[in-house]
Amino acid sequence: MSESILKTLRDEHRRVEGLIVQIENSSDIVQKKDLYLQMRSELLLHMEGEEKTIYTHLLEDVHDEEAEEVAQSAKLQHNEMRDLLSKIDNIGIESDEWDATFRKFTRCFHKHIEEEEVSLFAEAKGDFSREELIDFGDEFAEIKQHLIQ
Ligand SMILES: [Fe+2]
Ligand SMILES: [Fe+2]
Repeated sequence: MSESILKTLRDEHRRVEGLIVQIENSSDIVQKKDLYLQMRSELLLHMEGEEKTIYTHLLEDVHDEEAEEVAQSAKLQHNEMRDLLSKIDNIGIESDEWDATFRKFTRCFHKHIEEEEVSLFAEAKGDFSREELIDFGDEFAEIKQHLIQ
């Protein structure tokens, strides 16, 4: 069933938020690691999917400074999150440093999705029709499908 890309992205944000809460509350190291790997792979897919669809459309189709700015700033935040995830990957999950770096990551994540859902979504709603946003939703689903294979 096709739906607006904005609805899909919002749902995925809630899903990752849920996994983060589970990671934070996990007292079992094995379970914590599994949840982290799950969250990490879902978020990386989500970010790549966004960059190849909605961000690209904002950067290339709109020809507007505001649209470019929100997409560029979001891309930079994605890279910041990717860097933090790589750092986390290289730290032992039982150490305090892991928790501290994970907290840094979650702050980055929350700031990013808030900006995305407020500024970027508003920009996209102003620039694209309902039909276009549904087409982007299909593109997003397709790209993610390819990335998984
Ligand atoms: Fe997102
Ligand atoms: Fe994003």
